[in-house]
This record gives sequence, structure tokens and C-alpha cells, in this order.
Amino acid sequence: MAFSLKIALKEPETKSALFVFGNILLFIFIIFFVHSGTYTFIYIIIQIFIFRIINERLRSGHSYTSTKNLNNQTVIVTGAASGIGRMTAIELAKLHARVIVGIRNQMRAERVAQELSKESNGNVIGYNLDLTDLASVKAFAEKIDKVDILINNAGVIKEHKEFTKDGLESTFGTNHIGHFYLTQLLLPLLIKSNGRIVNVSSQGHVYAKENTDFIHSNSYDPFRAVSESKLANILHVNELQRRYGNQGIKAYSLHPGGVRTTGLSRDNKSYKMLIISLLSKIISKSIRQGAMTTLYCALSDEAQPGKYHSNCRVAQPSSIAYDSKKARELWELSEKIINEKTKHL
Ligand SMILES: NC(=O)c1ccc[n+]([C@@H]2O[C@H](COP(=O)([O-])OP(=O)(O)OC[C@H]3O[C@@H](n4cnc5c(N)ncnc54)[C@H](OP(=O)(O)O)[C@@H]3O)[C@@H](O)[C@H]2O)c1
Repeated sequence: MAFSLKIALKEPETKSALFVFGNILLFIFIIFFVHSGTYTFIYIIIQIFIFRIINERLRSGHSYTSTKNLNNQTVIVTGAASGIGRMTAIELAKLHARVIVGIRNQMRAERVAQELSKESNGNVIGYNLDLTDLASVKAFAEKIDKVDILINNAGVIKEHKEFTKDGLESTFGTNHIGHFYLTQLLLPLLIKSNGRIVNVSSQGHVYAKENTDFIHSNSYDPFRAVSESKLANILHVNELQRRYGNQGIKAYSLHPGGVRTTGLSRDNKSYKMLIISLLSKIISKSIRQGAMTTLYCALSDEAQPGKYHSNCRVAQPSSIAYDSKKARELWELSEKIINEKTKHL
């Protein structure tokens, strides 16, 4: 836990949260022990003004701007109907990439692709992709003729234990297994293009239990489920790099930062999520700032294959995230699940 805190202290949202806490204490101290009368009002205005300027700098984090021309490059972004994925798709289309977005429901995928093409003045194509349904993942992959960058971005947090169409616990099934299968199916094309694979993980992976079985066969806790699925995103990248790095594959994992106004909490209305959502309005990045590290991993020559990134640079994940035995075991478990669940396809 002490180690997790050390890692967390480097994140913009933690710095901002500490700054907010310090300001609240200072505010209470000044109001009750120093100021009185008319000065109090003036003080409040000045403190809010200074707070807003400094907090904006603390929570924003680093940005990344690319001037690359992605003409002739095809990028796939999962979960691009909203939030970070949507912004990522827009930014890549602006750089002239052909962007394919994987979104649930074909009509919705086409509608969103049209919106994104308009917003970016670029070329965005939408195909149905439901990561909770391995048949849908296969059908999506069969439509792909070329891919240079695969961005595994979609993610869920489920308040209660739910199951995918293939009978897997839903958080693990969506965040890891759906993306694992998609990546496996697209690997030949990615090897052909010396492609990049980018897994959008989370700093929340530090709360994963060391002895996790990933599949939550017994008890279910939403925060444990999501942190372990996000650990799986990092281990997946490590093992991809180890197995296919010498065939030209470059795989990256990342934490986008705490990002406000995304749709991530829609399936979790617990009081913990409510507090996080409220706090995130003050301490988190905008969606555009939240897409920066994804774009950095997808495009920058400074991003490091096989490594975990945050705030547009390499970052330190938890020690389990660099456990090569765990990565191998998860790969074997994922392959076993895929083989078993897709033999009828
Ligand atoms: N926001 C944060 O503070 C934060 C922090 C750390 C990590 N992250 C990670 O960042 C990624 C993007 O999250 P976000 O904040 O942008 O949340 P978001 O706005 O909820 O976006 C998630 C996307 O995933 C899609 N999705 C969910 N289930 C799917 C399925 N079965 N098949 C295909 N697509 C599916 C959603 O599509 P539908 O509209 O169809 O549901 C949605 O477009 C996630 O992996 C998340 O874990 C976010």
C-alpha cells in the first residue's frame, strides 16, 4: 500500500487532490482564526481565484502533440462512442489516419463514425463490436484488411456481477478477454505492418490482489474486478512484447489519468463511485487531456514498447504488473478460455 501511495503521488490527480485538501485546511484556518468582517469576503475571492489557476496546472498533466501525417495508416479504436476513445479517434483522424471505430450496434457505429468524420474532417469508419460477445469480436476482425495501430480502449466497471454472452465475468470479459481475442485475431496484420498495440489500463491496477485468479469465480467486488482487469491489460502488453517484439510488434500500456465527464461510472451507482465522480470534477483532467497518453503511446518515438506509461512518459506500475510468471499464466489462461469459448465459431 505504501508503494501504491508512492506511485500515486506522481499522478496529476493526486497532486491536485492534495492541493484541494491543503486549500480546505487553509480556508478553515483563515476564516476562523485570522480574518473577520469584510476582509473575509475579499480573502475568499482571492483564494478561489489563485486556487483555480494552480489547480488547473496541477491536474492537467503533460500534453502531447503530434505533427505526423498518418496518411495510409489504419488505426482501430475500441469504445470510441464516448470519452477518451472518442477523443483519441478524432485526434488520429485529424492526422489523416483511416480510423476504424469498434462500437456496439452497427447502426450506432455508423452514426458515431459519421459524427467523428465531421468533427475531425477525416475518414472514420464504424463497425459493430461487442467485446462481451466473442462471435461479434470475430466478425469485427474479419472486416479488417489492414491495421497499423490497435487501441484497446473500451472499458467497464460493473456494480454487480454480470456475465458476458460467453459466460465470463463481465468486467474481465470486456476489459481483457474481448481485447485479448481481438488482438490475437489481428496479430498477423499487425506483424505485417510492424504495428503498435496500445492497451488503456488504469492506475487502479495497483489495488489488484497478488493471488488473483482474474475470473472472480467466488466473491465479487466491483473495484477489485476492475483493478484486476486493468492489471491484466498491463500483463497482456508485457507478454505481447516478449512473444512478438522480435517480429516487429510494439505494445504499450497506459494510465490515462483521472478523467472527468466520461461515461465510465454509468454502470456503477454505488456511493463510492458517486464520491469519485464528484471529486473527479475538481481534480481530474478534461477528456482531451485524458487522451494525451494514448496518443503518445500510439505515435511517439519516445514511448517505450513493453512499458507502462502515464502522463505522457514511462511510469512505474505495481510490482505484480512486471511479474513475468503472472503475465505468462494470464496469457495461457486467456488462450484456454478463448479456445474453449470459440470452438463453435
Ligand atoms: N475516466 C477515467 O478517469 C479513467 C481512468 C483510468 C482508466 N480509464 C480507462 O479508460 C478507458 C476509456 O474509458 P472512458 O473514461 O473514456 O469511459 P467511457 O466514456 O465509458 O468509454 C468506454 C467505452 O467503452 C465502450 N464499451 C463498454 N462495453 C463495451 C463492449 N462490451 N463492447 C464494446 N465497447 C464497449 C463504451 O461503449 P458503450 O457506449 O456502448 O457502452 C464506451 O464507449 C477505459 O478502459 C477505462 O478503464 C479511464
